[in-house]
Amino acid sequence: MAKSRVGILISGRGSNMASLVEASRAPDSGYDVVLVASDKHEAPGLAWAAEQGVPTFAMSPRGIPKPEYEAAIDAALRDAGVEAIALAGYMRLLSDDFVAKWRGRILNIHPSLLPKYKGLDTHARAIAAGDAMAGCSVHVVTEELDGGEVLGQAQVPILPGDTAETLGARVIVEEHKLYPRMLDQWLSMRR
Ligand code: GRF
Repeated sequence: MAKSRVGILISGRGSNMASLVEASRAPDSGYDVVLVASDKHEAPGLAWAAEQGVPTFAMSPRGIPKPEYEAAIDAALRDAGVEAIALAGYMRLLSDDFVAKWRGRILNIHPSLLPKYKGLDTHARAIAAGDAMAGCSVHVVTEELDGGEVLGQAQVPILPGDTAETLGARVIVEEHKLYPRMLDQWLSMRR
């Protein structure tokens, strides 16, 4: 069966993107990463993807009206034949129009046990609340920030003395396992 064609949007380090690319190389993977796109030319993940031979696209939104900017991203994704989008640390809100065009075809990974802690500073907020567990969630992207259907989660205990950094370092290990598994499962259900 033909593999699904996935485009990944990043803004920075791109460690989740790298785990998705690496997992896509397993013989039984159901998807290929056909484009890594970034809103930052200097995103370290973009250089990594290029070194790996994955096609890349970078465009800064600075000075460009949002609809035009998103039309360029949309065109790059469509030119690459992308069928589904994985957001991996993409730090920009997608407009309702963009989400509607790709409805049901965008996933995101979020570093909290949704519906808790939508938005930023998730680990610090979980520690401040005295939670016993933190973690990450893979969810479908809708118009509501971090609000779409949750496909899967991984839990990580919060340890005494944890800081946002120490907790985040343990959660990201789980993100790297969860995201490829969820993406592959979700794509195979859609075929
Ligand atoms: C991750 O914590 C992810 O959950 C969140 O943004 C961060 C991206 O990290 N959406 P990376 O760029 O994948 O290393």
